Amino acid sequence: MNEFTRTIDAGRVMARCDALATLSELSGGLTRVYLSEEQRKANELVLGWMREAGMQAGLDAIGNCAGRYEGDRPGLPCLMLGSHLDTVRDAGRYDGMLGVITAIECVHALDKAGRRLPFALEVIGFADEEGVRFGTTFLGSRAIAGTFKPEALDATDKAGTRLSDAMRGFGLDPARVGDAARRRGAVHAYAELHIEQGPVLEAAGLPVGVVTAINGATRYNFTIEGMAGHAGTVPMALRRDALAAAAECVLAIEACGKGGADLVATVGKLEVMPGATNVIPGRVTFTLDLRSPRDADREKAVAAVVAEIKQVCERRRVKVEAHKLHDEPVAVCAPWMQEAIGAAIASEGVEVRRLPSGAGHDGMAMQAIADIGMLFVRCKSGISHNPAEAISEADAGLATRVLAGFIGNFAPRAAR
Ligand code: GLV
Ligand code: MN
Ligand code: MN
Repeated sequence: MNEFTRTIDAGRVMARCDALATLSELSGGLTRVYLSEEQRKANELVLGWMREAGMQAGLDAIGNCAGRYEGDRPGLPCLMLGSHLDTVRDAGRYDGMLGVITAIECVHALDKAGRRLPFALEVIGFADEEGVRFGTTFLGSRAIAGTFKPEALDATDKAGTRLSDAMRGFGLDPARVGDAARRRGAVHAYAELHIEQGPVLEAAGLPVGVVTAINGATRYNFTIEGMAGHAGTVPMALRRDALAAAAECVLAIEACGKGGADLVATVGKLEVMPGATNVIPGRVTFTLDLRSPRDADREKAVAAVVAEIKQVCERRRVKVEAHKLHDEPVAVCAPWMQEAIGAAIASEGVEVRRLPSGAGHDGMAMQAIADIGMLFVRCKSGISHNPAEAISEADAGLATRVLAGFIGNFAPRAAR
């Protein structure tokens, strides 16, 4: 019986999303990147909520907010719940945060009911999922999964600050990242509640759904070196314009995305140097983000588009460097976790819809140490990575009750 879900307060969930949304680098918008002052403030709020919900909570070695609610005996392996607390630039307020806040709400309800489970619960507010500041995705979940790559410590942000120095400035010791890692067997499974970030549930008239798998993703950074020069004097035929070359590459990337079923390809960032009206662009950097539900399709498309970019640059007599930032295969949600989440949805009287995730999530990293499962919540018009991101309070309440029902009935499987 999961009668403890009666104390779940959807109004508090929404108010907490609103409170976190005020902690932003931009006033009037929401941008909160890894190891920023805004993130420090968000951590303080979240750690306070965790403690209020009856958890022991603190920052781990990479800067994740980590809360633990012991089971019916101290030191038991845990069911891990969570999502991320960092955002994209000019973000919505639910992407990531909703999963952390609803998990805390579930623990709060258990604690109020004085209920302890035959396993511990841990709630993690991952510090870096979006990879906005250092171009490095999943720093928080990789540290917990024990797959953090030490070379990531040398990544630099736009201001040239190294990740290792930013960690020291935040009070973290880069030499101790390994301390955040959990051993296999200490985590029974990882479950994440997240907004869908797409239109499927809304179109189906359903408030929640079970995720089947997370699409694989590859990201690159390209640097094109041409020749800067005077915009008034250099004849067109003699130019080596880095931006004109990049423009052709952007269109090749768009065509590549349009060329495959379920393939998507995006250039989300492009910088032109030196960046003046009367100077021919000498240097351009731009990113590629390419995703697919099938790894073989993604790999083929990446190889083809990188080859095409090289050809464009050769023809235009500009140099190009390609740097792979991220390469994650499809992450399948464990069938038994899909079943358990589906059962929790059904017991709220809602039809069980299964759907894949086009967006990336921390589960992609967490699957290295545990089976993963995800619950999606309907979002308005499928809009996300945009300030217009919206959910209803009723959906937030229902989704939190589903999560709580899943937790209350969770039965660990033997380790894989
Ligand atoms: C995370 O939001 C992603 O890029 O999918
Ligand atoms: Mn996101
Ligand atoms: Mn997210």
